[in-house]
Order: sequence, then C-alpha cells, then structure tokens
Amino acid sequence: MQLAAIDKIRISVSQSLPLKRKQQLSQYFTSANIAAFMASLFNFKSEKKIRLLDAGAGIGVLSAAFLDRCISEKLNFNTIELDAFEIDNNLHQHLYNTLIGYRNYVDLTIRIIGSDFIYTAVNWLRGNLFQENKFRKYTYAILNPPYKKIKNNSQYRLKLRYIGIETVNLYSAFTAVALSLLEKKGQLVAIIPRSFCNGPYYRQFRQYILRRSAIRRIHLFHSRNKAFKDDDVLQENIIILLECNGSQDDVLVSTSTDDTFDDLNMFKVPFDRIVSPDDPESFIHIPISNDEDIRDKFVQFRYLLDNIGLTVSTGPVVDFRVKKHLCMVPETDTVPLIYPCHFYNGHVKWPIFDNKKPNAIRVNQDTKKWLYPNGYYCAVRRFSSKEEKRRVVASVVDPHYFNGASMLGFENHLNIIHCNKKGLPCELAYGLAAYLNSEFVDKLFRNFSGHTQVNATDLRSISFPAKDILIKLGKWAIVNKKVMSTEIDRQLMRLIK
Ligand SMILES: C[S@@+](CC[C@H](N)C(=O)[O-])C[C@H]1O[C@@H](n2cnc3c(N)ncnc32)[C@H](O)[C@@H]1O
Repeated sequence: MQLAAIDKIRISVSQSLPLKRKQQLSQYFTSANIAAFMASLFNFKSEKKIRLLDAGAGIGVLSAAFLDRCISEKLNFNTIELDAFEIDNNLHQHLYNTLIGYRNYVDLTIRIIGSDFIYTAVNWLRGNLFQENKFRKYTYAILNPPYKKIKNNSQYRLKLRYIGIETVNLYSAFTAVALSLLEKKGQLVAIIPRSFCNGPYYRQFRQYILRRSAIRRIHLFHSRNKAFKDDDVLQENIIILLECNGSQDDVLVSTSTDDTFDDLNMFKVPFDRIVSPDDPESFIHIPISNDEDIRDKFVQFRYLLDNIGLTVSTGPVVDFRVKKHLCMVPETDTVPLIYPCHFYNGHVKWPIFDNKKPNAIRVNQDTKKWLYPNGYYCAVRRFSSKEEKRRVVASVVDPHYFNGASMLGFENHLNIIHCNKKGLPCELAYGLAAYLNSEFVDKLFRNFSGHTQVNATDLRSISFPAKDILIKLGKWAIVNKKVMSTEIDRQLMRLIK
C-alpha cells in the first residue's frame, strides 16, 4: 500500500479508537511524512539480510516507510524479517493490511507479536528458553514508542532492572530496550519527547544510550504541537538516530518547524557541544542553529531553571475572575497587584494611575491562595507585539517598591520565576533578569520560537549559565544599574571566560 493511502487509514483508525484505551496505550500514530523522514535517516549497509524491529507498531506506518525506502532505492539485500510488536489486538488486522502488500516486492517475513514489548524483550535478553517467540538480534529498529510514566513500584520497573535499565517512562524504556536488542552497528531511529535530554530523572537513561551507542543524527521540531497535530499532542519531539556500539563523531543536527520539512536546516555539531565531557548529568544539548556565536556560548549555558532549583509559573491572578477584589488605589486591606505595565526598563514602577489597570488586590479568603510573599522575583512578560524589538522582556520585582506590603499579586500576563513560591536572593533575581534581557537569549528564543508569546514552558526550556555566574551578573547589574542594557552580553562573556 502506498504511504499516502496508509496515511488516510491512519487518520480514520485513529479517530475510531476508544478514547480511554487510546490514551492508556498512547496510540498516537506517526504521519506518513514523518515516517518517511525517519526511514530516510538510516545509513544502509550492504547486508544481505535485514532484521527490523518496530516496537509499538500501531497500524505499521513506520515499518511501511522503512519497506518503502528499501524497495524504492532497490537496496541490495535478499530478505527482510520484520518483528512488529503491538499489544492491542484490535490493531493487528490493520497492521497486517499495511504490511502484507510489500511481500509482492521483497522477500519479507512478518511476525506480528501481540505480547508486551518490554516483558517479552526482557525475557529474551535474560535468555529465557521457554518463551514462545524466538529472538535474534536486529539490524534496524524504528519506533514511535508509547509515552507513559512508569511508577516506582510497577512491574515494568522491576523487569527493566533485571537488564540494567533504570528509567521513568515507557518511551525511554522502549528506546533503551530496543537498543539492547540491536546487533553491533545496528541502527535505531526513534521519535521521542525531548524531555529526556535534561533533568535528573532521565540521567540513567541518557547514560545508558551514550554508553551503548553513538548519536548520529538529531532532528528537532521547532513547533511543539505540529509533530502529532492530528491528535492534539503538545510536546516537543525529536527524532534521533543511534548506532549501536558506534564510535562517536560529529552529530548531524537538523531542525524544521513541522512535518512538512519545508524549512529543513541541517548542520554538523562536534559531539562535545552536545554532551559536555565533564558534565556528570550528561545533559544532551540540541543546538537550534549553526550560528557559531550561539553554539559556542551554549556549551557554557547548560542549566535549566529546574537544575538551579527555581520554578517559573504564570502569574496566578486572572483579573476578570477576581474583579470585585481589585482596586485602583491601594487601601489598608490590599496588597500590590502587578501587571506588565508596572515595569519600566527592567524595574518596578508602582502604583501607576495613568493606566486603566488596577494597582491592588484585597487580601481575603478568596484571593489569599493567589498571592506570593513580598520579595525579589524575576518577572517576564508573556506577550509582546511582532513589531517589538525584543521577544523576552524581563524585570526585577524589588520588594522595596511596595511600601512594606506583606504579599504581592502577579497578574496572568506575567511569568514569575520564584523559589517554591517564595522570593529569590536579590542578586539572583537581578542576574536572571539581566541574562534574560541579553541579546544572546533573544537570539536563542527567536531561533526556537516563531511566537511573540513567551510562556512558562518556553522559559523552562531556555538554558541558563550556572547559578554562581547568574549571581555575579546580578551583582554587576545592581552596581551598574544595568538590568536592561546592550552591555549585558559583554559582561556575561567576561564572567564565563
Ligand atoms: C505512539 S503509538 C505509535 C504507533 C506506531 N509506531 C506509529 O508510529 O504510528 C504506540 C503504540 O504502542 C502500542 N503499545 C503500547 N504499549 C505497548 C506495550 N507495552 N507493548 C507493545 N505495544 C505497546 C500502542 O498500542 C500503540 O499502538
């Protein structure tokens, strides 16, 4: 069957799936365009026999794209053995229909395996002789694995531990297990969420794949909601090509806005820019452009807010929901309510009466839960206009501007960087604001987002320098009164030398 025809079936099957099961099993199928792109990434060798693994095969779009490529490029092999794991029996007939036609063109053996991929693979890898399905290592694996948190006490956790895999989500488990099933120099292409690249939870998974394989290719989608747009899946996805036991070389990185790949941009990056050799966390950095300037600095800026112990939240006060508690003029039972208009040039300007926005919110049972203790924070505007020069505009919330108020209200058009809903050390708040106002961050942000909006999730994925550098930058910004200045970048460079 042609990929375009499979794509139509994908959409209609996907719409007909019972919602609960669909969510439970993460049945979000890959579009034909993405599948063809994924299949195009394999570097085929001159082997005579291909053994392909499709783990969590759905209706078989990925295998079909793989077979399509093999046939259309007239590759020099004799047979293909395909193992398609799919736990949902209701999909088996579709899976079969997708794949069977390829037998007209190639000597193809298809095994549709209905058991749980993780359980079966762990059995295989532990050498259980009494299992139903025989196992030989694969030469290629292609996967779009299910996405689901693995609880600490779940059977999956236990099974995975038997084969030395510690991980927290099915997508990373599928990837790690598939990698273990590959023969030497075998290749794996997977589309997976980007979340494993950072953060402590995925450290062991990162280290597992880095020990066992070389990263050959990374493709990043700029838009979070385009890769699985038919299913409204909102997450940043990457496509990765790993070579089992390969020796690590430069990595080919590519980006595109969405699955049309119209604006495909490709560049080579030295591996130590992707994973720093002295980083105990083995964070995986995906440069978003081949801009030398950004790439060089990126190596130093490898911390997410989370890694610095900070959180970013959208301002919790939604004004039209608490209208009756808002006041233009501060009164004895009110505390300051801060809108984007209450900042000028990176500093607080409060209260202001030449604007229609309220300046204060009453403190009572209804509003208390939305308020933060007065303190230092870094506030970032959520919206800017297309014409505006900068996308990221950050300001310091300095407690001294609020006449000794005990609490503060932050309105919903702001993002607030805080520490467990409390204020930050003064210098850190200044350092964060100065860094976010740097040219570097603006460039970085424009590279990764075409939007004028800056949401909390965007700020969570921006890379920051180490906390001590931010504090030094903050001290400099305080002394020189330069939270918003063209000199920030130069100072930053001095600090990281
Ligand atoms: C994200 S979908 C991807 C399907 C297909 N690979 C594609 O790209 O269109 C994941 C598939 O894995 C299947 N699945 C979920 N858990 C599984 C498990 N433990 N073992 C085998 N298959 C599983 C789901 O039923 C679903 O069809």
